[in-house]
Amino acid sequence: LSIIHIAAEMAPVAKVGGLGDVVTGLCKALQKRGHLVEIVLPKYDCMQYDRIHNLRALDVVVESYFDGKLYKNKIWVGTVEGLPVYFIEPQHPEKFFWRGQFYGEHDDFRRFSLFSRAALELLLQSGKKPDIIHCHDWQTAFVAPLYWDLYAPKGLNSARICFTCHNFEYQGTAPASELASCGLDVHQLNRPDRMQDNSAHDRVNPVKGAVVFSNIVTTVSPTYAQEVRTAEGGKGLHSTLNFHSKKFVGILNGIDTDAWNPATDTFLKVQYNVNDLQGKTENKIALRKFLGLSNADVRQPMVGCITRLVPQKGVHLIRHAIYRTLELGGQFVLLGSSPVAHIQREFEGIANHFVNHHHIRLILKYDESLSHSIFAASDIFIIPSIFEPCGLTQMIAMRYGSIPIVRKTGGLNDSVFDVDDDTVPPQFRNGFTFSTPDEHGVNSALDRAFNYYRNNTEVWQQLVQKDMSMDFSWELSTSQYEELYLKSVARARVAAN
Ligand code: ADP
Ligand code: GLC
Repeated sequence: LSIIHIAAEMAPVAKVGGLGDVVTGLCKALQKRGHLVEIVLPKYDCMQYDRIHNLRALDVVVESYFDGKLYKNKIWVGTVEGLPVYFIEPQHPEKFFWRGQFYGEHDDFRRFSLFSRAALELLLQSGKKPDIIHCHDWQTAFVAPLYWDLYAPKGLNSARICFTCHNFEYQGTAPASELASCGLDVHQLNRPDRMQDNSAHDRVNPVKGAVVFSNIVTTVSPTYAQEVRTAEGGKGLHSTLNFHSKKFVGILNGIDTDAWNPATDTFLKVQYNVNDLQGKTENKIALRKFLGLSNADVRQPMVGCITRLVPQKGVHLIRHAIYRTLELGGQFVLLGSSPVAHIQREFEGIANHFVNHHHIRLILKYDESLSHSIFAASDIFIIPSIFEPCGLTQMIAMRYGSIPIVRKTGGLNDSVFDVDDDTVPPQFRNGFTFSTPDEHGVNSALDRAFNYYRNNTEVWQQLVQKDMSMDFSWELSTSQYEELYLKSVARARVAAN
């Protein structure tokens, strides 16, 4: 198949969170299966340009519509992780992708609706005939209505549209009138069965639009797919998802097992593998030294946490886990940053409080290299999310032999099974879970993890080896996407004949 992914993130060049990992991991796995996979991204000023190979501008300039005019887009191509990527640089006076950050701008709706239209225009003008156009999250959700309204009639009509929502919390709603900028018909689309927001009738909702107008709609785990179909979990879209349930499915993400491999990871002080765990201990010693933590007792458990600090992640429970770990005599290392000013300030306060402490360290920034070191060094990894569409860090942690503690929600519920849960076959039990999102829940899991770690070295070691051997690669999930793609393409061919 010819498959085009249109996205706002791609690891490692433009990554904010898991979306970036998923775009790269899924595309690499699809490419490995012999599909022609290409990606379209905005050309952000703040990308990691040193990780893009052979970046060059094409001679062609693609013109695309915005605010009633045609604007030129400079098109760049390059290779990221072996994948061909087109980067779109709009020649627009508002300098949409020259902002020093990926998201969080006041005009994100304009930035990404322009990008979505320019991406389709690129496909059309370059004569591509993709079988699948796969878009992700609200930033590129505009692709679905734009395609059916404007681009299928113009000749891109062989494509099927797949939309993956990585998080229904972010829907990108805006006043309906803003839709006109990218050339969509506000009167046609601001209707309850189309893009109108389910709770504000003068607003449009890009995610709803993509759910309505795509051929395939997915989210990133089976449990989350169930949760968002309920009034509590659907963030206002449960009725829409229930109405379109036949094309909606949850597929658990994988992780890129080349990028996340302790046996080859060049960010680590020492590489290690399931049969040689001495290296894991050496990474713990190295990280302690680097962060100025005590190394008096090598067996003192280290709890890691790497996350965006947003309410979804249970920030109050993370804070509680720091103090509880201290009470239990462990060490805690947090790597995270927050787009929410008061949360960032609160954690800066905690970081300063512990700045010279020998057992607690908070590093409040995005740091790829340090994230690898923490996965490798930690014994336990905590993710107390209030909700979690999939979550990747529990899978990465396991691959590095760090045992996850998670709240049972979304994809965490589909990938972590409690060591003490007799209802689960023993071979799947791989971590510690709790259900109620409160301090008692955290304590119940953290205390048990410490007990296991301290009182039964052999059992703990077996658990580490079991988790490191589990298969979280993209293999299984990719075959599920492939099957959806193929079925959809086949249905379209039958309909066309
Ligand atoms: P989300 O996408 O909701 O942020 P995921 O668990 O799916 O959560 O993915 C998070 C990804 O971002 C992981 O690869 C994680 O290691 C990475 N990450 C999160 N915060 C940081 C940080 N401060 N520094 C480096 N990597 C981070
Ligand atoms: C979102 C979700 C996270 C998921 C990631 C990749 O950011 O919050 O749970 O793992 O997307 O799909």
